[in-house]
Amino acid sequence: MTTNNKTVNDAKLGGRFTFSGTSLSAQRIGYGAMQLAGPGVFGPPKDHDAALAVLREAVASGVNHIDTSDFYGPHVTNQLIREALHPYPEDLVIVTKVGARRGKEGSWLPAFSREELTQAVHDNLRNLGLDVLEIVNLRAMFDVHGPAEGSIEAPLTVLAELQQKGLIRHIGLSNVTPAQIEEGRRIVPIVCVQNFYNIANRNDDGLIDSLAAQDIPYVPFFPLGGFTPLQSSTLLEIAGQLQATPMQVALAWLLHRSPNILLIPGTSSVAHLRENLAAGELTLSPETLKKLDRIAATTVAPMH
Ligand SMILES: NC(=O)c1ccc[n+]([C@@H]2O[C@H](COP(=O)([O-])OP(=O)(O)OC[C@H]3O[C@@H](n4cnc5c(N)ncnc54)[C@H](OP(=O)(O)O)[C@@H]3O)[C@@H](O)[C@H]2O)c1
Repeated sequence: MTTNNKTVNDAKLGGRFTFSGTSLSAQRIGYGAMQLAGPGVFGPPKDHDAALAVLREAVASGVNHIDTSDFYGPHVTNQLIREALHPYPEDLVIVTKVGARRGKEGSWLPAFSREELTQAVHDNLRNLGLDVLEIVNLRAMFDVHGPAEGSIEAPLTVLAELQQKGLIRHIGLSNVTPAQIEEGRRIVPIVCVQNFYNIANRNDDGLIDSLAAQDIPYVPFFPLGGFTPLQSSTLLEIAGQLQATPMQVALAWLLHRSPNILLIPGTSSVAHLRENLAAGELTLSPETLKKLDRIAATTVAPMH
């Protein structure tokens, strides 16, 4: 019988999965920090102390995978992470991303030049208070809203050089197509892929299975629908049957979907954080999974 906290947390948070080719194993339920910045992911949060409380509660509950970027705020989210959690627990994996910058009024713009990428890595290091970034995702911006073809060789080569210099330990990709992942893997080992996916938006079904076969984690962003939260009568009905909430069922479905899925639901609220972490304790029967699988086909309003 094992009763230590690590084992208890492992089970509660959906077990663990390893970032491909690394010694970093993440609880399958992590935390996405984007919601901690101000409205539109721009500027400071409404309630600074509440933001710190969410981060501290996540880590105290066993979360060891936090997703962030220096372009959230910009700078704000990383500075909050540093204030709340530095010096960081040894097994905490902070995953950041580069490749975009914010315009005036908060627009999202590509930032793929050598200078911009190098600056972004240094901004992340400074604002997180780190000497080396554990995992940096290159966020493709050929289309801000979804994967679109285009070569990632030039920006990825810059990140590989920064890795050689010891500023980055591992590299992942975000908002990418299967062809870009293949291109990327010819340049540098890719330890994870982060794309838009949830119970209602399943464009990456094939990609998830192929990454699973190669032991590469897939990290869905907008797991709860992002700026357009998921709404579905099936989710409501099943949540009622399981005495859970629809968001918990949506997260539990992702955990059941494939073992290589690592979750980073975002929230600015401790109550929602607790709810999301508890999703790891929900078991979905094969019949329930079948019903949930039909949501994507029957969703009327697009979620993004
Ligand atoms: N790579 C990329 O391009 C990319 C893009 C977007 C996001 N991301 C990453 O992915 C993470 C997750 O995405 P996200 O935060 O945008 O979207 P999300 O996790 O799908 O949903 C967040 C939204 O759901 C609400 N929410 C969270 N838990 C809830 C609950 N239990 N009940 C009801 N509402 C709940 C949040 O509001 P409250 O604050 O009120 O809880 C927020 O409005 C981000 O934090 C970020 O780290 C990456």
